[in-house]
Amino acid sequence: MSKTKIVIIGVGAVGATTAYTLLLRERVDELVLIDANKGKAKGDAIDMNHGLPFLGRTKVWAGEYEDCRDADIIIITAGAAQKPGETRIDLLKRNVAIFESIMTEVLKYNHDGILLIASNPVDIMSYFSWWKSKWPVQRIIGSGTLLDSSRFRYLIGEELGIDPRSVHAHIIGEHGDSELPVWSLANIAGTRIPFDEETKERIFTNTRDAAYEIISAKGATYYAIALALDRICTAILHDEGAVLNVSTLLQDYHGVSNVYLGVPCIVDSSGVREVLKLELSESEREQLHRSAQKLKELIQSVEV
Ligand code: NAI
Ligand code: LAC
Repeated sequence: MSKTKIVIIGVGAVGATTAYTLLLRERVDELVLIDANKGKAKGDAIDMNHGLPFLGRTKVWAGEYEDCRDADIIIITAGAAQKPGETRIDLLKRNVAIFESIMTEVLKYNHDGILLIASNPVDIMSYFSWWKSKWPVQRIIGSGTLLDSSRFRYLIGEELGIDPRSVHAHIIGEHGDSELPVWSLANIAGTRIPFDEETKERIFTNTRDAAYEIISAKGATYYAIALALDRICTAILHDEGAVLNVSTLLQDYHGVSNVYLGVPCIVDSSGVREVLKLELSESEREQLHRSAQKLKELIQSVEV
């Protein structure tokens, strides 16, 4: 039976936490860590391997781009992260330059894996990766609004005293300031969520602005995104057909086309197998169009 392999490019706060999450949950046979800071990748690999007597089967090593060969999933978490007060969009030019070099190397060794992008601005970095690789769109996935939807479900659950796993609610659009809550479809066991407008506004604002709060408090966010990336990897590796709010290239999605945005998608071993078209209210459709328009204007600045 062939071994499963995940390569993580960029083992900073997000990449290393994601690697450790995959290790703890024993998701793969081989886990390869690549970073421009080779000492970091090497030190993380040694440190994780020393924990294997408590865990078991995963083989972890600090690798080179040649190790991307035969990788099932290549996760890219390399790049600049927001400093307090910076938006995700502020990272665009720095991270496009970094992705240019990373994608050139990856494409030398792998053409049939799945690229999972987390680096911000993640929707544009995902679009750039797809445009640069020319791979089938379903195999270039951004973490999208999976993290935002998780925050949204947690905050709704806290308000109601209900397990967030029983809260079904979507944040869609940009993983960023123009994201939008789909209150019209939010539900608990099919029952509508009984919030007044003030509660809805507070919960959505806290969801959308969560990263700013965390970054100002501790400098970066990495635990919840690591769990989100683990969730996406599991859906791929186990061919689950799970519905996850990842970022994918939309075509005629309520009139939105040619832009990566977070929406509910069916994720399996092929990547994004299908995009699920939510029934949106008129206001939600307008907000989605505004989110798409913001990113399309920025995408033009990266296409060469
Ligand atoms: P970090 O600064 O801790 O780690 C970045 C790593 O990338 C460093 O280890 C650095 O050496 C490495 N790196 C830089 N250039 C490289 C290159 N050319 N090749 C290989 N490695 C390279 O940053 P952190 O906190 O891990 O964030 C990483 C990215 O993830 C940021 O863009 C951040 O905004 C994004 N992020 C995205 C989230 C999402 O929901 N999509 C959530 C949290 C962070
Ligand atoms: C977050 C940022 C860092 O949502 O993208 O955590």
